[in-house]
This record gives sequence, structure tokens and C-alpha cells, in this order.
Amino acid sequence: MNINNLKDKIGQSVTIGAWIANKRSSGKIAFFQLRYGAGFIQAVALKESLGEEKFQELKHLTQETSIKVTGTIKENQRELSGIELQIESFEIVSIATDYPITPKEHGVEFLADNRHLWIRSKKQHAILSIRNQIIKSTYDFFEKEGFLKMDPPILTSSSPEGTTELFNTKYFDEEAYLSQSGQLYMEACAMSFGKVFSFGPTFRAEKSKTRRHLIEFWMIEPEMAFCNHEESLEIQEKYVNYLINDILLKNETELKILERDIEGLKSATGTFPRIKYKDAIQLLKENGFDDIEYGQDFGSPHETFIANSYNKPVFITHWPKEIKPFYMKEDPENPGTVLCADLIAPEGYGEIIGGSQREDNYDVLLENIRAHDLNIDAYNWYLDLRKYGSVEHSGFGLGLERTVAWITGNGHVRETIPFPRLLNRLLP
Ligand code: 4AD
Ligand code: MG
Repeated sequence: MNINNLKDKIGQSVTIGAWIANKRSSGKIAFFQLRYGAGFIQAVALKESLGEEKFQELKHLTQETSIKVTGTIKENQRELSGIELQIESFEIVSIATDYPITPKEHGVEFLADNRHLWIRSKKQHAILSIRNQIIKSTYDFFEKEGFLKMDPPILTSSSPEGTTELFNTKYFDEEAYLSQSGQLYMEACAMSFGKVFSFGPTFRAEKSKTRRHLIEFWMIEPEMAFCNHEESLEIQEKYVNYLINDILLKNETELKILERDIEGLKSATGTFPRIKYKDAIQLLKENGFDDIEYGQDFGSPHETFIANSYNKPVFITHWPKEIKPFYMKEDPENPGTVLCADLIAPEGYGEIIGGSQREDNYDVLLENIRAHDLNIDAYNWYLDLRKYGSVEHSGFGLGLERTVAWITGNGHVRETIPFPRLLNRLLP
């Protein structure tokens, strides 16, 4: 009943389970948009072939009514799917009454309240299908590159990205946090398996209400032993190129539904410019941004301006040590800065990757942990990695939802995850 690809069935008779997404009809012919799980298909019913009674019954079925429908798959090049279904018979499964999301426009808060239903709509279906493909392409890419997938814990005692945005929870009699990043654990795994990546939910109690911030988001975190900052940038570039090319190849229909500017995406592939933080500051100052000084983090107008100056994802490297986490390695050639990079997506989608070479010297790392006022007991195991066969290593984290937002051309991360967790939203 659940058929994955109806395109392979041209000329054949099929029976599918589906929901009525939309319909229009005249006296003799009715057109339906059916959602059959894997996608949408136009279905056509003729009074002549169904008979008066059945035709009237079908024509009056309400939006989101579920049916089992039998018919022949025909080619139709005017449809995005390239096919349509000629209905021969049907069976009603369950009639839906007063489905709240009608084809008219709705306010975004209303849609967000009905997210459990909103995910059925064509645009949301396309975005989430692309999200699924990005996850699959990620696994493919890292497998080809010889990485192993490892799973860090969600309940942790450490706070790699600073202590201000932690979700606290009780762990029996202890304090625990929901993971902000699996990185520290991935470093341990890299010392065993060489090249590893994780993919999982991460949590930030950020009081940010922007188009780029979720409270719960999913991150892909590769970590590589015997790998320096430059080599890590090369992998990041290759990975993002792979994602774009794979989505262009496999999600043509979804990109069309979303009216994504394909040329914009294509031109974002190739080599990504690398610019130093200090040069980015200079670029901004030369272009009238008086609100930023060396030593400050960028806001979204700054990121957008830098990205638009290149029309490609841009690596901003060599950030001041003071505004980056304790584990980043200082650049011996540019003291005061760390060997790190943020990758800023074009078209205003903001930072999609944060990564760095890690501090591999025991004494320096210990000093950094102390300087950041972190509880040393929670990091002794992490320091061990620098005691027993410490090596140069690097890694990065790609934010899945921001990447989906960019690739799908969707302005807000709340539509890039099935059930977004936002500052004021824990429902549905
Ligand atoms: O730059 P971040 O904080 O880096 C880390 O967590 C590193 N420990 C990763 C690593 O090196 N293994 O986060 C990485 C990425 C960001 O570039 C952004 O894409 C995404 O995670 N991100 C968020 N996405 C949605 N909502 C939020 N609140 C996000 N915070 C970070
Ligand atoms: Mg970052």
C-alpha cells in the first residue's frame, strides 16, 4: 500500500493509501491532489468511468479524508511529479471533518500551534524530505571518507560551549546538563577510531528569538585525529559541496515546489573563501559598520554583509581567543587568536559550521579550563586524552536546521525540523 516511487509505475495499475490534500471539479471530471506518503500526485476521476453515484461520493470527500485508491499511473509532463493517477475505484478509510488548515493563507502562530498537521502541507513536506536527504547524504559522505559514526551521551556533566546556556536537570543526586555538543566525547572516540562523526540532538537554553535559533537542534560533529586546522577546512568544504550536489541531484521536485533559486545554490559550490576575523572586521568598518570592534562577536547583519560580499559560503578564521571556547588551540603564528573557523552561508542564512583545531597540550588545556572557571572534576577524563598519546586533532559541528534552511531557501529554522522547540514553544 505504501509505494515509494510511483514514477517507476507508468502504465501500471496501483492501489495506494492516500489523503486528500486538495480538490477541484466540474460536472464530469474531478482533480485531486493526493498525498501518498512519499509525495504528492494529481489524481483524475471521470464521471464516465466511475458512474454517477461513485463520482458524486468521491467529489464530495473532504480535505484530509483518507482513502485507498486504485488506478493507472499515466505520464503528465505538466505536473511537477511528471505523472498522474487515473482513478478507477476507491474505498473511504476515514472521513475528516473541519480540517483546520485550509488552502487559504494562515498566520504563522496558528500554523505553529498546528504543527502536527502543518507537516502534511506540500511545502513542509518538501522541506522535511530534503532534511531527510541531507541526513542520508551526510552518512554517505562520511562513510566514503572512512569515518565511523559514534554516539555521544545526551546527559552530561560538561559544558563545552560555555556555562550560560545550559539546560540543567537532576541526575539522581547529581546535577546534569543536556548536551550542548558531543564534541568532547568525539575527541575521545577519534583517539580510538581516527575519524568519527556524531549526529544527534543538542540543547541550548538561549534566550534568542531569531530565525536562526532553536532551543533543541541537531548537529553533525566530525572529529579527526592527526588533522590540523587547514586539513579540517578542506573536509568541511568537500562535505558542504557534497551536500549541495547530492540535493540538486536527488531533490529536484522538492526544490521546484519550494521555488528555490537553483543557480544560487549551484554557484555556492567550489572553493570557499577563507578570511581572517581581523580582515572581516576591517571589511565591515570600511563599509560603514561602526557598531563592531575587534574582540566582538558578529551579529546577523555583519554575517550577512560578509557572505554577500562573496556569494559563496565563507570561512572566517583566526578569532580572538577571548571570545571562543576553552578547547581551541592558539595559533603559534598569530598569538591571541585561535585556529578555528566559522562557515557563513550565503544569502543571509548565517553560521552553519563552527569548528577548530583542538588544544592538544595537557598544561595549556588545564590552564584554559581553570581560566574559564570550569569544574575540573568534570574534565579530568578529557585531560587524559592529552596524557596518553596526544595528537594534533580537529573537528567541527554543522547545524542541521540552519543548513536545511539555507538549502531549501526557507527563511526560518522553525520549518526545518518536524517539531521545533523555540523560546516560547514546547507544543505540540
Ligand atoms: O558553533 P557551535 O556552538 O560549535 C560547537 O558546538 C562545537 N562544539 C562544534 C564542534 O566543533 N564539534 O555550534 C555549531 C553549529 C553552528 O555553526 C550552528 O550551525 C549550529 O550549530 N547552532 C545552532 N543551530 C540552531 N539553533 C541554535 N541555537 C544553534 N546554535 C548553534
Ligand atoms: Mg559558533
